[in-house]
Amino acid sequence: MFRSHTCGELRLSHVGSEVTLAGWVSKIRLMGSMAFVDIRDRYGITQLSFNESYSKEMLAAAAELGREYVIQVFGKVAERESKNKQIATGEIEIIVTDLKVLNSAKTPPFTIENETDGGDDIRMQYRYLDLRRDVVRANLELRHRLAQKIRNFLSSSDFLEVETPVLIKSTPEGARDFVVPSRLNPGQWYALPQSPQTFKQLLMVSGFDKYFQIVKCFRDEDLRADRQPEFTQIDCEMSFVEQEDVIQQFEGLMKSLFAEEKQLSFGAFPRMTYADAMRLYGSDKPDIRFGMPFVELKAPGNARDLVSGKDFVVFDSVDSVIGICAKGAAHYTRKQLDALTEFVKRPQIGAKGMVWCRIEADGSPKSSVDKFYDATALEAWKSAFGAEAGDLILILAGDLHKTRKQLNELRLQMGSELGLRNPNEFKPLWVVDFPLLEWDEDSQRFHAMHHPFTSPLPEDISLMDTNPGAVRANAYDLVINGVEIGGGSIRIFDKQLQARMFDLLGFTPEQAQSQFGFLMNAFEYGAPPHGGLAFGFDRLCSLFGGSESIRDFIAFPKNNSGRDVMIDAPSELDAQQLKDLGI
Ligand code: AMO
Repeated sequence: MFRSHTCGELRLSHVGSEVTLAGWVSKIRLMGSMAFVDIRDRYGITQLSFNESYSKEMLAAAAELGREYVIQVFGKVAERESKNKQIATGEIEIIVTDLKVLNSAKTPPFTIENETDGGDDIRMQYRYLDLRRDVVRANLELRHRLAQKIRNFLSSSDFLEVETPVLIKSTPEGARDFVVPSRLNPGQWYALPQSPQTFKQLLMVSGFDKYFQIVKCFRDEDLRADRQPEFTQIDCEMSFVEQEDVIQQFEGLMKSLFAEEKQLSFGAFPRMTYADAMRLYGSDKPDIRFGMPFVELKAPGNARDLVSGKDFVVFDSVDSVIGICAKGAAHYTRKQLDALTEFVKRPQIGAKGMVWCRIEADGSPKSSVDKFYDATALEAWKSAFGAEAGDLILILAGDLHKTRKQLNELRLQMGSELGLRNPNEFKPLWVVDFPLLEWDEDSQRFHAMHHPFTSPLPEDISLMDTNPGAVRANAYDLVINGVEIGGGSIRIFDKQLQARMFDLLGFTPEQAQSQFGFLMNAFEYGAPPHGGLAFGFDRLCSLFGGSESIRDFIAFPKNNSGRDVMIDAPSELDAQQLKDLGI
């Protein structure tokens, strides 16, 4: 028997017992006639105590240890003189009677503690050591617990987990595919799935009316904190459902996760249309932990215009002038306001400038454009924003779409600066009624906003011929704290409508047949009405774990260039391998 207990298990009630522990040397303190060594495993840390008066031989053995040695110790549990309230085993220590070094270790390249001295790169290169740290391990434990709870919840609602293939066919829609050459079919390639979308729809045709899968998906896209080239979805699909059924089912799943993991309960999650989300927050994934909604001083489709005709060319020459009101932020100094202007002018955001209007303590507005707007004009702004003494109004101008995007960034920045984005507060939101199609200037054609299998809202089907850009989709996203946690739709299950959709997306009937013929053919054999969604599991874990980076919740993640620096992938193939593959 290697161990009788784990390193996180022993308490005062064990005092006097003979125990065997095994683990890694975490800390060594040599103090002449005595020594203390911390032994660590997955479960915790236990103090080992060595003293000349117990055993000279053991004290000498302790002096030979190095950090991260793997050891096995035998000894007796004793009550500690100076107790450590910080750790669960802090009231006891082990008086070591025998010690065996199971393996020595090189000095690790960074300290294996919660606050480590290792930078990102070195920790990724030695990820197996990084994973020894409590904080990182706790993230994977959270991931495991959530996966278990999700499986239990869905299984108890009659969902079946079905595995779908990983070597599939490349499709032109969506992100770029990762591809794999086929040796047995020279010149031909598999693609790795961006999601199991078509397979889960085929499973509905097969009659598996409730499907789920916790599944790896692959997308060759630019990486960010919340995007990895391979990531995990909780992929779900149901038959004989409408949007409301899907929302209820998966809102239930989320509520149960929050209740069990965070002891939080929620009423019905609020819903917002895509159009409102864009108008009020300039984003299809608004962070509603704080207000600060957009106010249009001038915008297409809005009868109000509180800025034009005052000789301020910047506002006269654009179609949109939109702002936010930061409550209680009038104390922002000139320097801070300049920093915000610089922030919105960064190339990633691209605004030309920022106008501000401060509401002074006496309630009078004072703006950066006082030259053009007199007190009456500024009073009108103040009331449009519902601003009060002590508030700060920030305004951007330009083309509607761009201005909304830029102001979204500014709003989030202000939310962060004012401490309004508390990671321990959770604000879910369903965003509904997305547009079905999105016009792409580069390719001069429509793209599916969600994917080509998404059904239009029944009341908008007639618009498909007259005004395709105005058709709304029967699609929904779940957004929590400004993060798109999941999304899905009610699907097209009629072959004709699916063909019409491919036509709108610019496919010839032949292209549609060659790309998606299997699905269109399946729809001829009794496809039930169906719909579903997929959650980003890594994002869900990072949300629950209070971190913005999904990498922290993936055991072996890729860096921002899509590399695994530990195994050094991707890498070149040798000539023979390429030859075998016909490349
Ligand atoms: P969608 O493309 O919206 O939908 O993906 C579903 C969810 O997966 C997560 N996600 C990602 N997470 C990490 N890294 C990535 N690169 C990444 N890309 C997406 C997001 C997202 O909301 N088949 C449809 C679902 C459906 O219609 O049922 C789909 O894949 O959290």
